[in-house]
Amino acid sequence: MPYLISIKALGLVMLSDPKALRLAFGRFMTGVTVVTTLNDTGEPVGFTANSFTSVSLDPPLLLVCPGQHLSSFDTFQSAKSFGVSVLSEGQEAVSNLFASSAEDRFGQSNWITSVDDIPLISDRAAGFVCRTSQAIPAGDHLVLIGEVIHFDSTENPGLGYGPDGYFALGKERKAEAHTAVQTRASVLLDDGHNLFLTADDNLPSVIVAPDESPLRALKTALEGAGICAKLNVVYAVYDEGKNGRRIVFRGHPSGAMPTLSAHAIDGLGSLAVKDSALQSLLTRFENEHKAQNFGFYIGNESAGDVLPAIEKVM
Ligand SMILES: Cc1cc2nc3c(=O)[nH]c(=O)nc-3n(C[C@H](O)[C@H](O)[C@H](O)COP(=O)(O)O)c2cc1C
Repeated sequence: MPYLISIKALGLVMLSDPKALRLAFGRFMTGVTVVTTLNDTGEPVGFTANSFTSVSLDPPLLLVCPGQHLSSFDTFQSAKSFGVSVLSEGQEAVSNLFASSAEDRFGQSNWITSVDDIPLISDRAAGFVCRTSQAIPAGDHLVLIGEVIHFDSTENPGLGYGPDGYFALGKERKAEAHTAVQTRASVLLDDGHNLFLTADDNLPSVIVAPDESPLRALKTALEGAGICAKLNVVYAVYDEGKNGRRIVFRGHPSGAMPTLSAHAIDGLGSLAVKDSALQSLLTRFENEHKAQNFGFYIGNESAGDVLPAIEKVM
């Protein structure tokens, strides 16, 4: 039986629509380069290109595709050598300048003269000087293949280009790393006389995934370790500096406590654990247990407030 396929549903468009084809090509995300050479009067010429591709290591080859629309097309078509500057994050203005029809592009930018007198843009992420190996006409562009005769590379993250314009992955990653706070969920498990700690005198804890509830993450981790416990109130929430945030729940054993060791609550203050914030939390717990009046601590490792807390089984 013949099928009727909806062209629209498949997102198919007519090949004769160059604008749509350009948009489809533009879905491919790239870096940004400025391709440069000297014209026949020795003046530097250049244009912004994202058609850069590394081609071969042995011999070292790369390619760029100058379009016939370029004012410098004839120059690149007959150039014996050319340069490619891979732009760094923050060089959007340089990219825009070399993608414009501005006359004095080199007068308005910082550049150096490299091997074969080829200009390279300053502060680039990487630079290549090539001898033209092949110049293959391909439709309305030229595939310009160059053999690399000189290159340099820096630690600068490269500028990105995609359907929504420029992007700076390095900056975005740094911003993300800065804002992403890791949460550790821990539990003070006591049976009224003893507190149960791990072998290295720590609270049973779990790192909480960004999309997870701390309480659920902790319950799952305890169940996974065969520890049977009922979790009660939140006992403390504090910032552990670069280690992120710690949420400490209270809980009581309701069955087996494998891998945990019992420590008398009365002696917790003199346990001398390495983590000073945990030590003061244990000391507070010992004191509050004596008074049977538990508080809730909010703050960081060295400063904060203890607020009244009401216990409720969850
Ligand atoms: C991100 C980006 C990538 C580009 N890539 C190419 C390319 O690979 N080939 C090309 O011929 N033009 C490319 N262009 C367009 C040229 O940079 C632009 O047409 C050029 O400035 C024209 O220079 P002209 O005024 O000397 O003709 C690109 C433009 C941008 C913004």
